[in-house]
Amino acid sequence: MRRCGVINCVVKAIIARRPSDVMVSLMKGRFITLEGSEGVGKTTNMQFIKSCLEQLGIECVVTREPGGTSLGEKIRALLLDRDSESIDDYAELLLIFAARAQHLARIIKPALVRGVWVLCDRFTDATYAYQGGGRGVPDESITVLENLLQGDLRPDLTIILDIDPEIGLARVKERGEFDRFEQEQLHFFQRVRSAYLARAAADTQRYRVVNVTRTLTEIQSDLRQELDHFIQRVQ
Ligand code: TMP
Repeated sequence: MRRCGVINCVVKAIIARRPSDVMVSLMKGRFITLEGSEGVGKTTNMQFIKSCLEQLGIECVVTREPGGTSLGEKIRALLLDRDSESIDDYAELLLIFAARAQHLARIIKPALVRGVWVLCDRFTDATYAYQGGGRGVPDESITVLENLLQGDLRPDLTIILDIDPEIGLARVKERGEFDRFEQEQLHFFQRVRSAYLARAAADTQRYRVVNVTRTLTEIQSDLRQELDHFIQRVQ
């Protein structure tokens, strides 16, 4: 009887441990995400980070959210379409997590298991910042979906490129047409920025905030330093 009890406990523990949690312990690659509000220069700086890692002989894949897979890119097009009907906040949230589920299953987890590093342009922190901070979706709702899809998987390092949204939006304006998110008002992006900074303040181990109102040389020198510290920590 006692043995049966123990076995039952073990079986329950195994069932409770979702496959994604088991997978995290098998992941040998590192997961780095780059975040920030509009106009912070993510594309340029992502290429810089990639080249720094490659110089050190670290194999990495560069990907983005929403997107990163064929299905994810279709969902991205729906989300960014500025001619779309008004999208309900929860429909938006679920579309983002649908794209993320596919991205995790097809790109992110397989790379990490192979020992390849993943550099992702936005991830779940963007959901807390845009849908949570910007739209006002409760963090608890986002956390339920995060835990369901990601299990224990979280980025190892998250770099937040920080800028006053007024300056960021002026940069976006210079580029031309606005997408559905970029059409939002300044106070939306102020809430997005506050949400990012609050997350960074709550976990100084994982997050690094880089001020991008300086020259590219200064920004990239900071990025290089942050990467060096991170690599020393994990290798
Ligand atoms: P991009 O600016 O990196 O191209 O991203 C496209 C937009 O998607 C950007 O305005 C932020 C938005 N977004 C969210 O609202 N929630 C999310 O979880 C992600 C990943 C992006």
